[in-house]
Amino acid sequence: MTNTLYFTTDDQVVQQEAFDAICAEQEHIGYYHLPDQDIAPILEYCSTVPDTVETIAVIGIGGSSLGAKAVYEFIKPLHTLKRDLYFFESTDPVNITVLLEKFNLDKTHFLVISKSGSTVETFAIYKYIYSIKSDPSAYTFITDPGSPLEQYAKEIHAAVLYLPENVGGRFSVLSTVGLVPLALSGIDLEALLSGARHIKESFFKDGYMKDTLLKKATYYARNHAQYHINCLFAYSESLKYFCEWYVQLWGESLGKHQKHSAFHVGLTPIGLIGPKDQHSFLQLIMEGTRDKSVTFIKIADFNDNITIPDITLPHLESLDVLNSLPFEKLINMQCDSVMEALLNEKEIPVDVIVIQDTAEANIGALIFYYELLTSLVGELIDVNTYDQPGVEAGKCILKDKLAGLNKKTDSFS
Ligand code: PA5
Repeated sequence: MTNTLYFTTDDQVVQQEAFDAICAEQEHIGYYHLPDQDIAPILEYCSTVPDTVETIAVIGIGGSSLGAKAVYEFIKPLHTLKRDLYFFESTDPVNITVLLEKFNLDKTHFLVISKSGSTVETFAIYKYIYSIKSDPSAYTFITDPGSPLEQYAKEIHAAVLYLPENVGGRFSVLSTVGLVPLALSGIDLEALLSGARHIKESFFKDGYMKDTLLKKATYYARNHAQYHINCLFAYSESLKYFCEWYVQLWGESLGKHQKHSAFHVGLTPIGLIGPKDQHSFLQLIMEGTRDKSVTFIKIADFNDNITIPDITLPHLESLDVLNSLPFEKLINMQCDSVMEALLNEKEIPVDVIVIQDTAEANIGALIFYYELLTSLVGELIDVNTYDQPGVEAGKCILKDKLAGLNKKTDSFS
């Protein structure tokens, strides 16, 4: 994976301070250690799920589903996997009904994933599915030790697995939260983690990623009053859910009160997919307010060599320039052209990440790269990257409303 920045910062002192802070954080923030974990216990657990299970269904939301979905949807199009993965992450009733029609319930194992072990959406869906399939052996629960979910799982004698210590929901994709569903679907965990490890080593051991990530984070932080919107423009449909994961990671980690002032700060993440969004959002980047930076992601080798046929269409002869062109080449030329157009504008900070192909190691690398970048920017804009009081507040209000609803129902009965 390469990352070329078309902007510069030269603040060595700030960069060194940020690096030191991140090194110190490793003492108490768990996600930094995930690339080096021993995956044997996860693989051992996965081997207990019978081969007769054809489908894995995740019931979870936010950090408990988005990461695994991002990896699965990236890998799936080009790989024959052992099992299908489905994600129940919405209380939209139609979505639940439609998803349940897609697979055979008797050949499905459910992973109920919730760090807190009490998220309303997750348990509304779980209750519904459990009412249809009430065999505890069809479920595995993944949660924090001591959560109400752990107690429940033990009560019904179902399997329970734990998150490692101090790993936050949106940083948990490379823990049991993401690795268990991915391993059960047949994705190569060792390859996935090797990509993350490569980025980790390159950053912490003075490699190429140290310089790049520090420069990029410092630039974003220094200029966040002006460039407070970060667009991730990925030129592949396979990265659609990675963009969703990035939006959660970036938004929930960086939109906060500053730690040492009363200011609200934040960098707004936008996920875009090329070339589709060239025909919509691009206009706003190109000619709109100068408040957006853009990171392009390109895939060098799509592993699919279909080409545009050598056909001349009457009245459309000008499009013969497309003839014999591989689609892979076209999509990357489109990305390069948009990037060049933005660079010509001079006022739009642009960088480009190139990954070789849709292999596990490359999505592992992208994930760890974005986690490190988020931690660095959070440190530099002075927020607590790892909490989410805004999300918690909404959860509490919903619980109060639901309690109120029950009281009213009681008084009517
Ligand atoms: O990143 C986070 O902490 C949140 O987005 C959570 O992942 C989300 O709210 C789901 O929480 P839980 O895993 O506790 O059910």
